[in-house]
Amino acid sequence: MRILVTGGAGYIGSHTTLALLEAGHDVTVLDNLANSSEESLRRVQELSGRSLDFIKADLLDEQALEAAFAQSRPEAVIHFAGLKAVGESVAKPLYYYTNNVVGTLNLLQCMDRHDVRTIVFSSSATVYGASEQVPLTEDMPMDAVNPYGRTKEQIEDILSDLGTADPRWRVALLRYFNPVGAHESGRIGEDPTGVPNNLLPFVAQVAVGRREKVMVFGNDYSTPDGTGVRDYIHVVDLAAGHLAALDYVSGQAGVYRWNLGTGNGSSVLEVLAAFSKAAGREVPYEFTDRRPGDAAVSYADATAAQRDLGWSAKHSLDDMCRDHWRWQEQNPQGYAGA
Ligand code: UD1
Repeated sequence: MRILVTGGAGYIGSHTTLALLEAGHDVTVLDNLANSSEESLRRVQELSGRSLDFIKADLLDEQALEAAFAQSRPEAVIHFAGLKAVGESVAKPLYYYTNNVVGTLNLLQCMDRHDVRTIVFSSSATVYGASEQVPLTEDMPMDAVNPYGRTKEQIEDILSDLGTADPRWRVALLRYFNPVGAHESGRIGEDPTGVPNNLLPFVAQVAVGRREKVMVFGNDYSTPDGTGVRDYIHVVDLAAGHLAALDYVSGQAGVYRWNLGTGNGSSVLEVLAAFSKAAGREVPYEFTDRRPGDAAVSYADATAAQRDLGWSAKHSLDDMCRDHWRWQEQNPQGYAGA
């Protein structure tokens, strides 16, 4: 298939683009490089031995979007492009709603004009909000607790309304749990700008000596060791989930929601222990206050994706830390060091 991947230069986008190329699809990546580097795409081509088309454009630029569709004539879209920092979304809600929601509306209008009605959307477990009822199942109500999460929720609603209005739409809404790890080559991985907000990239930067220690946000949660529990999933498993979802909706119109997680929770201290083992050095840490808005426990019920897509996560927490570390060690400054 000819596939347009928005945000394909980013962390999850680059791993999915690689998987698409390896599966024989033809890929055009559209990315504004706001939070990513074209170097990731150079490496994706090197790893796959195949070339892709890259268009540097913003979803808010309707003319550029129109030109990209005319040029690449996609049969399906995988839509990753979006802003994703929770704290920034609280400070700059208009920036987030415009970028994520208006950008997606532009994309959907363009798709409709070009008779392209197959889309896999990068949603997030963040749509479940502060729900502490675990495991989280797809039929639980959405109740995001910050502007970033609400952009994901609103886009899910828009796509769902679209599917109701026009049964030709084929929509997969993928709710990611906590993506970590890197391609096992160590050539592509997560490259956050500035201070990482998420646990794994922070831990990796401490392990490589870029930062002094990890601040563990809370050790008084009602969890076995008092620290927060999350469902970490290897980014290569996540990428495979996109191909499985694309396959499914290609054969069946409608709107579908799937959690992409392992179904298992790991605590912050378990992650620190696994990462220290992978890196062969102790990662220093210190306990501090809880981070506002954090749930104690979050993990997926991953049975729907297993049942419908025949997909399940294959990698363990040790695999995730090993691969994340390989990427970090080989690229201590991310793509900027290339
Ligand atoms: C965060 C976002 C969520 C987003 C997801 C993936 C918040 C409140 N939630 O989820 O909306 O979808 O990332 O991008 O930001 N931790 C530390 N020290 C750190 C960083 C994290 O102890 O320096 C802890 C957290 O308290 C949590 C766990 O590590 O228990 C994972 O945190 P993180 O990687 O930020 O993911 P989420 O909080 O699940």
